[in-house]
This record gives sequence, structure tokens and C-alpha cells, in this order.
Amino acid sequence: MLGVGEMNWPASVTIKEVGPRDGLQNEKVFVPTEDKIAWINQLSGTGLKSIEITSFVNPKWIPALADAAEVATGIERMPGIIYSALVPNRQGLERALEADVDEAAVFMSASETHNHRNINKSIRATFPILREVVQEAIAAGKSVRGYVSTVFGCPYEGPVSVDEVIRVSDTLFDMGIDELSLGDTIGIANPKQVQEVLDILLQRFDAKKLALHFHDTRGTALANILMSMDMGITTFDASVGGLGGCPYAPGASGNVASEDLLYMLDAMGIHTGVNREKLLSAARFIQEKIGRELPSRNLQVGNSNG
Ligand code: HMG
Ligand code: MG
Repeated sequence: MLGVGEMNWPASVTIKEVGPRDGLQNEKVFVPTEDKIAWINQLSGTGLKSIEITSFVNPKWIPALADAAEVATGIERMPGIIYSALVPNRQGLERALEADVDEAAVFMSASETHNHRNINKSIRATFPILREVVQEAIAAGKSVRGYVSTVFGCPYEGPVSVDEVIRVSDTLFDMGIDELSLGDTIGIANPKQVQEVLDILLQRFDAKKLALHFHDTRGTALANILMSMDMGITTFDASVGGLGGCPYAPGASGNVASEDLLYMLDAMGIHTGVNREKLLSAARFIQEKIGRELPSRNLQVGNSNG
């Protein structure tokens, strides 16, 4: 890393909006399908280029997204936007292909216990299932994103070894995924740790193929993003309003709020192509539907300013 005042900022950053999936999956309130659709349509008008719209998992595990097919087929598709969805297995892929999503996102954990709690299988048993999904999605002409969860710590096991992260990441890339999102599932990472972990991972993987996915449970997400940018990462997952969390990670709260990230990047002169006013308006819309104040700082500043 360079000295203070010499940090290495990128000219542009891609924000991947995961609110309709990661945000809503942990909400007690079932947001009606037509509201989800109206919200995603608003997000499509903000300049975002990638939106994770839903999840084709077992609806008994994630009832909040039981309407995945209706949402995916009900939204207006804007050219130039990738509409992605989470897919855990072959059955999920079939549903996702029927709904014609642009991208399948497969997911697993670097820690055994979280993998088991989240997808009911060992890491070893997950590999062949995801390999089949990735190969079939590619054969169907879809792009494929991979997620590794618990990269910076596991709610059940504590510290996670970078070697395990590398093993899972290598296997996912070997399956043919286009991009890997590294998940701080429980928002436990700090900038020094991010630097140490990325230092190792970037010796092996191209920065352009990596995204960082920070939950903001302990308020370190923006600091972690700054460090990731300094290390050469230019793609970040975020969730409008700061909605979200993993239901199978106790205490996990929302992703970094997209509008908080956007405020910081705009102020730093880093290009995203996303319009802040439109994003804030989409945040206000979902806050009203959820019926409680969301964690986003920019949303609350906006509210108190009337
Ligand atoms: P399982 O129970 O082991 O599955 O669940 P199974 O294959 O034994 O099947 C059992 C039943 O599930 C059957 O139905 C299947 O039809 C049904 P039954 O005969 O009992 O009526 N089923 C499905 N139904 C619809 N769609 C499907 C599907 N698959 C099976 N795709 C499974 C295994 C993976 C499905 C389950 O554990 C599951 O759905 N888990 C999802 C959990 C989840 O969504 N977690 C949150 C997302 S991950 C996350 O948030 C982290 C991330 O944000 C990154 C980060 O922050 O780190 C990505
Ligand atoms: Mg997440």
C-alpha cells in the first residue's frame, strides 16, 4: 500500500445491487410481488448495470422470495442490465432458466458449519452440485457468478483460513464462473484483514474477476471498500437502504447501503454511472413498504432534511 495521500483510487467502480435478493431474504415482512416488481423497475432506471432480483432456493427456507418466478417474469427488462438470481442446485436452475434470468449466481461457504446450515450439505458434497449448475447455465448461454461466504469469519466457527477460501474459490473458477464475490457474511472484517486476505488472493486471481460483498453489521463496510479499492478491486455488492442479511448467519445485518457507497464514490470523483437521487427514491420506496427505518445513513439524512 502507498503512504497516506497516495492511495490508489480507481477511475470507476461497478455497484452490483443485491437488495431485492440479499435485502429482502431476511425480512420478516413479505413484500407483495407487485411492490417488488415496481421497486426493481425503479432500480432499473437508476443507471445500475447489474441487479440480483431474487433467489430460486427452496421457498420453505426463504419464504420472503417464494415469488421468484413471478418477480423475474414480471419486471421490465432494460437493455444493458444484467438481471441475476441466486441458484442453489439443478432444481433452482431449471426454475431460473424458465424465468429467463440473465445470470445464475451460485453460492457456498468457506466454512463447513455455515455451508451446512445454509445449504444443508458439506462443502465436499456441494461441489458436484454447483459444477453441474454452472455447466448447464453456461450451456444455456447464461453468465455465472459465484459467491464464497464467511471469507472473513464464520458465525459458528470463528476465524476462517485463507487456504479454505482459496480452495473453494479455485474450485468455483475451475467450474467456469465469470466472477467471484467474496462475502463478509456477518460484517466482521476490518481493513487490515481485508488487505491481508486480498494480498494473498490477488496473487492467484485477477482483480477484475473479484467482487467484494460487505455486510455492515459493525460499521466497517465503507472502510473495507476503501481498502479493497486501494488493492485494485472495482466491483462491490450493495443493497439499497442497507437492507438485508443471511438468515442462516445469526446476528448478520444488511449489506453496505448502495446510496452510502454511491455518496462516497461520487464525492471522491469515482464514476459509477448511477444517479443518486433516483437511487434514494428507490430506497424511500422500499423503506415505506418494509415499514421501518432502514440503516442507510444517506436515506436518514434525506428524511430529516424533509
Ligand atoms: P434440501 O432440503 O437439502 O434440499 O435443501 P433437497 O434437495 O433435499 O430437497 C428437499 C425439498 O426441497 C424438496 O421438496 C425439493 O423439491 C425442494 P419436497 O419434496 O420436500 O417438497 N427443493 C427446492 N424447491 C425449490 N427450489 C429449489 C429447491 N431445491 C430443493 N431450488 C437447498 C437444499 C440448497 C435447496 C436449501 O438448503 C436452500 O434452499 N437453501 C437456501 C438458503 C439461502 O437462500 N440462504 C441465503 C442465501 S446465501 C447468502 O445470503 C450469502 C450471500 O449473500 C453472500 C454472503 O453474504 O456471504 C450470497
Ligand atoms: Mg450477503
